[in-house]
Amino acid sequence: MNVPLLDLKAQYRSIKDEIKQAIDEVLEEQRFILGKHVALLEEKIANYCNCNYAVGVSSCTDALLVSLMAIDINPGDEIITTPYTFFATVGSIVRLKARPVFVDIDIETYNLNHEQIEEKITSKTKAIIPVHLFGQCCEMDFIKNLAKKYNLKIIEDAAQALGAMYKDKKAGSIGDLGCFSFFPSKNLGGYGDGGIVVTNDDFLYKKIKMLRVHGTEKKYYHKLIGGNFRLDELQAAILLVKLKYLDDWNKRRAECAKRYNQLFSDAGLLDKVILPKIKQTNHVFHQYVIRVKERDKLLEYLKEKGIGCAIYYPLPMHLQECFSYLNYKKGDFPNAEKAAKETLAIPMYPELTLQQQMYVVEKIKEFFNKS
Ligand SMILES: Cc1ncc(COP(=O)(O)O)c(C=O)c1O
Repeated sequence: MNVPLLDLKAQYRSIKDEIKQAIDEVLEEQRFILGKHVALLEEKIANYCNCNYAVGVSSCTDALLVSLMAIDINPGDEIITTPYTFFATVGSIVRLKARPVFVDIDIETYNLNHEQIEEKITSKTKAIIPVHLFGQCCEMDFIKNLAKKYNLKIIEDAAQALGAMYKDKKAGSIGDLGCFSFFPSKNLGGYGDGGIVVTNDDFLYKKIKMLRVHGTEKKYYHKLIGGNFRLDELQAAILLVKLKYLDDWNKRRAECAKRYNQLFSDAGLLDKVILPKIKQTNHVFHQYVIRVKERDKLLEYLKEKGIGCAIYYPLPMHLQECFSYLNYKKGDFPNAEKAAKETLAIPMYPELTLQQQMYVVEKIKEFFNKS
């Protein structure tokens, strides 16, 4: 049996006709940039997140960059975030010549440990970027209180968490700005790159809309120095079709997670495999990530057996070559380093079947029995 990490073809088969129709509509109109599909998607995503505004952008990387630009991040400013994330979270800070200041993670959720944030706040700190990793929100009430106390902005990196909830609030709607990714493998993925920023702040909304088109409101009259951060019409049309299914897909991911939990328990593997821990209202399981001691050997074994798996992420940000000038060293963030050594994402997508999950768990059991 083959069980991929993610099966986009299975999803495409279920919505093929609608997608083709949506693409065709854009082709007939021949309007590819900032037309009615982008505007409608912005309205729908803003509603979905219970926010006043959304601005479609070219990727979540650009969503983060434009958000930092909008809150006037300058060289030397400090931004607190996690070292256990995708590069873009930190890359966007550094591109503005600001300094990322890391806080270790909670080893149970892999999200930044909110209790360690306050000790890192200095007079230069301007913002916090909590990353809702793997589809589960960070402890946002605590982070919001700190931001209020020290007058800091919050940019949520919710790339992996569209639809996730923190208490009664949607991921992305809690801080000043929320950034999402429509990268194809995301819970709501386009057929290319894309992203969106959500906010309730009127001023930031208007500024990001300008920054998205080289700082203009009126063409060729530049109030700000922005960039080309636009989302495509074609992507928006595809995403509008897929958005209708997102809640159902997220529900099915959560059901798959429950089934994995049961299968691991039934297989007697709980002393060897640490399962994802749910601490917030709901987890949208962008990834189902387990933690095991002999991670690299298990990965090889599963690949041999036709099972897709991946490591998110093998090297924390504080140990990346390009950030060596920050002078962090091995041992600075032990939980992030442990996670980088021991975590493994196993197949997770809405169409995953019980038989496939049984096969995955059976092969993991086989691995431990023989080693
Ligand atoms: C946590 C996180 N932040 C940011 C990004 C960047 O998103 P994009 O690929 O849309 O630029 C990703 C995508 O992988 C991500 O997982």
